[in-house]
Amino acid sequence: PPTLNQLAAAKGRYFASATDNPELSDAPYTAVLGSEFGVITPGNSMKWDTTEPTRGQFSFAKGDAVVSFAQAHGEDVRGHTLVWHSQLPGWVSALPASEVRSAMESHIAGEAGHYKGQVKAWDVVNEPFNDDGTYRTSPFYNAMGKDFITYALQAARAADPAAKLYINDYNTDGTGAKSDAMYNLVRDLKAAGVPIDGVGFQAHLATQYGFPSQMQQNLQRFADLGVDVAITELDVRMVLPADATKLAAQSTYYRQVTEACLAVSRCVGITIWDYTDKYSWVPGAFSGQGSACLWDSNLQPKAVLDVVRTALGYT
Ligand code: G3I
Repeated sequence: PPTLNQLAAAKGRYFASATDNPELSDAPYTAVLGSEFGVITPGNSMKWDTTEPTRGQFSFAKGDAVVSFAQAHGEDVRGHTLVWHSQLPGWVSALPASEVRSAMESHIAGEAGHYKGQVKAWDVVNEPFNDDGTYRTSPFYNAMGKDFITYALQAARAADPAAKLYINDYNTDGTGAKSDAMYNLVRDLKAAGVPIDGVGFQAHLATQYGFPSQMQQNLQRFADLGVDVAITELDVRMVLPADATKLAAQSTYYRQVTEACLAVSRCVGITIWDYTDKYSWVPGAFSGQGSACLWDSNLQPKAVLDVVRTALGYT
């Protein structure tokens, strides 16, 4: 069959995977990573704790390795992520509030400047909201209130004017309080002329929690604000062991996400949060859950991969 990215490209979209540096020495793994996808994103190596572990001392070797892999295989890179409350070095959390804005802007200038012209999009701000739609406490929110988002986007635009600038979050895939909060934020940023190009919907789904309500309509209302939308971290986990019912639900979810993106003209592409169960984040974060990816832990394609191919139009 054609690759996932070829199928997506025929629909004007890209198909992408997350990856991580330790995986790049696994030759059977990289054979698929380097051929099946149009875009890759580093799962960890462009995060603040990796890129600026000490104030003012940048370390881009790991991120550069992912960029080099992408370039060697004709793939683009989604940068992930510049401003996030997690995987943040201790020195940021220890700063007095009066110094957080300048530290954040320096971080963005340093990192997005380093990758200028090499990433097609940045998750500039990751996960700003709590699940009830209130702003999440973080060194950034505590120091600047919600304006940290404006300042971060402006700094990213200045550092790399060609990169598409995204805000990215989870549990915003369907309608609900958190999604409404993101919607109101993006609406206000657009109205204020703040540089925002896209909204990322992580889509870390689980068969036991049901499919997000009205995903397509939700993506569409964001697109109608005048931004791109993207599925940025798709996976569909389940409580192990897998059985026919759970696998059928998983296939339905992957199909529905793919169809939702294809139905929204400004949905630019789908990223899966690594393509294989061998390197999925799920078992490490949710004990007893897994089997979330399109390829199994032996790098063999699963039946759900054919479901995605079919949803992308392969006959
Ligand atoms: O690097 C250390 C290693 O030195 C140590 O021996 C090992 C022991 O636990 O941990 C390693 O760090 C791990 C890191 O991944 C790199 O592998 C962390 O424990 C682990 O927590 C971390 O998990 C990452 C997670 O973000 C952290 O929040 C996942 O790989 C990564 O896939 C995941 O990605 C996030 C997105 O950035 C944002 N959206 C949610 C998504 C899933 O959590």
